[in-house]
Amino acid sequence: MKIGFLQFEPLFCQVESNLDKLSSMIEKAPDFDLLVLPELANSGYVFSSKSELVKASEIIPDGIFVEKLSEITKSRNSVIVCGICEKKGADFYNSSVLIGPDGFIGKYQKIHLFDREKLFFQPGNGPLISYEVKGMKIGMLVCFDWIFPEATRVLALEGIDILAHSANLVLPYSQTVMLARSIENRIFTITSNRTGTEKNGGIELTFTGQSQITSPKMELLASTGVDTEEIKIVEIDIELARNKWLNERNNVLLDRRSKMYSKLLK
Ligand code: ACM
Repeated sequence: MKIGFLQFEPLFCQVESNLDKLSSMIEKAPDFDLLVLPELANSGYVFSSKSELVKASEIIPDGIFVEKLSEITKSRNSVIVCGICEKKGADFYNSSVLIGPDGFIGKYQKIHLFDREKLFFQPGNGPLISYEVKGMKIGMLVCFDWIFPEATRVLALEGIDILAHSANLVLPYSQTVMLARSIENRIFTITSNRTGTEKNGGIELTFTGQSQITSPKMELLASTGVDTEEIKIVEIDIELARNKWLNERNNVLLDRRSKMYSKLLK
């Protein structure tokens, strides 16, 4: 199984040029089964008005991003996860889409909004579920969801092998934390982050790059720099994520003492 990330710098509100750049990067990429793209890959991140969201968002699955990415996954018999600025009625969601060899499969709406995202997006409704495609069980989260271990745990209990984590990270912690998410759930994680600095409406943010792939044994299988724009693919043995035993007596899912965790549901 070949899985990877694409790291690039989306240009703010330049939907068509972002799509062109992604398409030409993917065209040159080696074979892959699953490729994860960054959060808000169509729109960029630093919004200062709703009119910018109107301009840069799309209805899922009828927009140009999902349409073009579906052409790619069909022609390459592959799966892509991509962060999309979603328009739904009068509302906007920070979403991810899962697209396979037969086209659009499903979407995830970010459930934990970060900082000023709360001014522009609705908190999403997930869902936190596993999708089985091409022999992989895939779950989606978006960026700041990383700081809530419950979200990844629910996906692990749903049976995912691989967490597709589309990101626009600005804090320096997530890359380290995802190693823990991998070992505590015995899953692969793919964080696809963006690069660059965006300035708009008096706000300036610099994104941390360093996209990466982690293994169920807490190995860093691939990573890249802060500013690089590139695709990295690694070959994995997906069966590793289906063995939840750490040793003869400890299983990271079966050993849970859920009665002791009732406060988590309050
Ligand atoms: C983030 O959730 N985009 C920081």
